[in-house]
Amino acid sequence: MSVFIDFDQSVYPFPAKPARLSSDEKEFYRQKIKSLLVEKNAVIVAHYYTDPEIQALAEETGGCVADSLEMARFGAKHSASTLVVAGVKFMGETAKILSPEKQVLMPTLEAQCSLDIGCPEEEFIHFCDEHPDRTVVVYANTSAAVKARADWVVTSSIAVELIEHLDSLGEKIIWAPDRHLGRYVQQQTGADILCWQGACIVHDEFKTQSLEKMKALYPEAAVLVHPESPQAIVDLADAVGSTSQLIKAAQNLPNPLMIVATDKGIFYKMQQACPEKTLYIAPTAGEGATCRTCAHCPWMAMNGLKAIADALEGNSQDHQIHVSEILREKALRPLNKMLDFAESLK
Ligand code: 13P
Ligand code: SF4
Repeated sequence: MSVFIDFDQSVYPFPAKPARLSSDEKEFYRQKIKSLLVEKNAVIVAHYYTDPEIQALAEETGGCVADSLEMARFGAKHSASTLVVAGVKFMGETAKILSPEKQVLMPTLEAQCSLDIGCPEEEFIHFCDEHPDRTVVVYANTSAAVKARADWVVTSSIAVELIEHLDSLGEKIIWAPDRHLGRYVQQQTGADILCWQGACIVHDEFKTQSLEKMKALYPEAAVLVHPESPQAIVDLADAVGSTSQLIKAAQNLPNPLMIVATDKGIFYKMQQACPEKTLYIAPTAGEGATCRTCAHCPWMAMNGLKAIADALEGNSQDHQIHVSEILREKALRPLNKMLDFAESLK
């Protein structure tokens, strides 16, 4: 069977962006959210790719802004009875799987991910069943049902280490869903990996020739690349890593200028980490072409202030994450293995 499932925009059109708010409206919702968080014993768990005003609000209110691994850890450990997950749906599901006793709300349940969409449960289970000799490792960017079929869940921040570990045990791997991250991990570890062919619509769009030209224009710059990007982009990188690893690289590399090939939402925390450095986004459009995502995940962009206030007000079920207990128990096992493995690396 084919394992290439391309992201079809005619089937999954990009979502509409939240309506723009005036500065008075923004302030109104910020204050409303702050008091609702206290009233509901809730905390915001936000991803680096959400808009700066959401990240700022999470920080101000004692929440977290992090990569997908740290979001999972933070939500599971926090004492709040409600988690407001500002990110995409798999992040909300992960939070619910790890903390079934907590209410998990999302600004919108329509915040998807092309990797999750591109790895449907039935096809994936069939694929795994065809290769029973392989250990199944799935990226966190998958549905609860796909996680439930896996032996391990992993995020980009520990993917190389986990695959190195499994390879040292002589295990052959099924990797899903991101083909670029799968190839990167295979090259780093030399492991025997059979890869599902999904892709991230944001990272898939970075353009090699335009990046080469930008490097030539700014010879003092370092290029930072998330491994969901195509091979030719990774080849131009000075540092390759997960979102949190790229923020550290921006801090540690001596270069005064960074060209960054990942979602531009990361600039909020990256600039905080190294205020003296100049940050440019890597080009997403070739000559004469226009970009589709333009380096900002259309689903992450759905996490607006009004939607967070609506979720906390609890007027509808449209914000609540539900995962059936049978599915949760199955998906919990590979997720806990990931958290234990991450802990052992510390
Ligand atoms: P991180 O695991 O680095 O947070 O990445 C998640 C993601 O969706 C990248 O596109
Ligand atoms: Fe998914 Fe890509 Fe958006 Fe990350 S940036 S959530 S991988 S579509």
